[in-house]
Amino acid sequence: MRVLLGISGSIAAYKAIILVRRLVEAGAEVRVVLTESAQAFVTPLSLQAVSGHPVRSALFDPEAEAGMDHIALARWADTILVAPASAGLIARLAAGMADDLLSTLILATTAPVILAPAMNQQMWLHQAVQANLGTLRARGVEIWAPAAGGQACGEVGPGRLLEPEELAARLLQRPHSAIDWRGQQIVVTAGGTREPIDPVRFIANRSSGKMGHALAEAAARTGATVTLISTAHALPTPAGVRRVPVDTALQMQAAVAAETSMDLFIGAAAVADYRVETPATHKLKKTPDTNTLTLTLVKNPDIIHEVATRPNRPFVVGFAAETDDLHAQAEAKRLAKNLDMICANWVGDGQGFEQDDNALWVRWAGGQQALPSAPKTTLARQLIERIAHCRQTN
Ligand code: C5P
Repeated sequence: MRVLLGISGSIAAYKAIILVRRLVEAGAEVRVVLTESAQAFVTPLSLQAVSGHPVRSALFDPEAEAGMDHIALARWADTILVAPASAGLIARLAAGMADDLLSTLILATTAPVILAPAMNQQMWLHQAVQANLGTLRARGVEIWAPAAGGQACGEVGPGRLLEPEELAARLLQRPHSAIDWRGQQIVVTAGGTREPIDPVRFIANRSSGKMGHALAEAAARTGATVTLISTAHALPTPAGVRRVPVDTALQMQAAVAAETSMDLFIGAAAVADYRVETPATHKLKKTPDTNTLTLTLVKNPDIIHEVATRPNRPFVVGFAAETDDLHAQAEAKRLAKNLDMICANWVGDGQGFEQDDNALWVRWAGGQQALPSAPKTTLARQLIERIAHCRQTN
């Protein structure tokens, strides 16, 4: 989840520091934009420290624009939350002004915009503020109404910024995608399996797990309940995703079998076709008199095929990494494994595995689509959209 947090000038701005911490702890990526008046209440340095990224405030900052310019920042976000949103900022947004970085970003984004207002209770109740909020609501901006209670100015009434824990919980629970899969169960496998030879050695492959993790993240944004069965222990768990760590194909098979109810299964893991029949219980030693070591390998179960042949099978999406004859091999695999969709990519020559970017060829019963080279996070979003479309027309 990529949250752009805007902070405007209000005494409640200090709560934003805790909010950023909570979001980062939950696995969200957070970039902070401060208005000029917000800087009277919180420092860019504190917010940089908690978010782990430089904080932006100026619209015309050549150094910052050389990194991610304001349009790129507006596109990067999957949600924009302004907390606290002051009466002044609300008025400027209602007027459609673009006179600082935050207001400009809000005009330039296609992401959902949420405002969490904070102000004196008389100001909150003022007709002008309520009319501006009405205008913004009519344009699709979500308003998270402030709480009532004691205020910093000594008055009591509505206008208190919601507590950071509440803001974080609301943000993490809402769907972050045009697709609404709330109530659906999705299982994703990710990473290459490790098949032990002895207690210190294993047979592995070059899969990094990045595509599977990106897919779990994109799936979670739809509001679905997502389980990620992953061997990629070094990768972070995407926000809102339940993770089941595994190493071997047999462990992955057992973890998948435990998921008895699923609406969608995405097998992005590179499962070893074979495992060592009897891994040694002690470290294997070199022997002085022989130059060869023979390992007996036995076939692993085909996990995705087992899911695809369940009586109440979910929609099943597989991956095919190929070095030759990509389209024909992938389509043959889709049919042989009884899959609804296959995503094929070239591997070898530095393509596919371990990279941040990839290109995919997607094939389903009713059509095909080429997804050109892009970051795996972008491809994951496109793929989830394609799956949603195919499931609707299935
Ligand atoms: O046969 P191949 O390994 O190329 O098939 C790839 C697809 O099948 C992937 O979706 C992978 O996750 C899945 N698979 C599996 N169990 C296996 C082998 C592959 O689920 N034993």
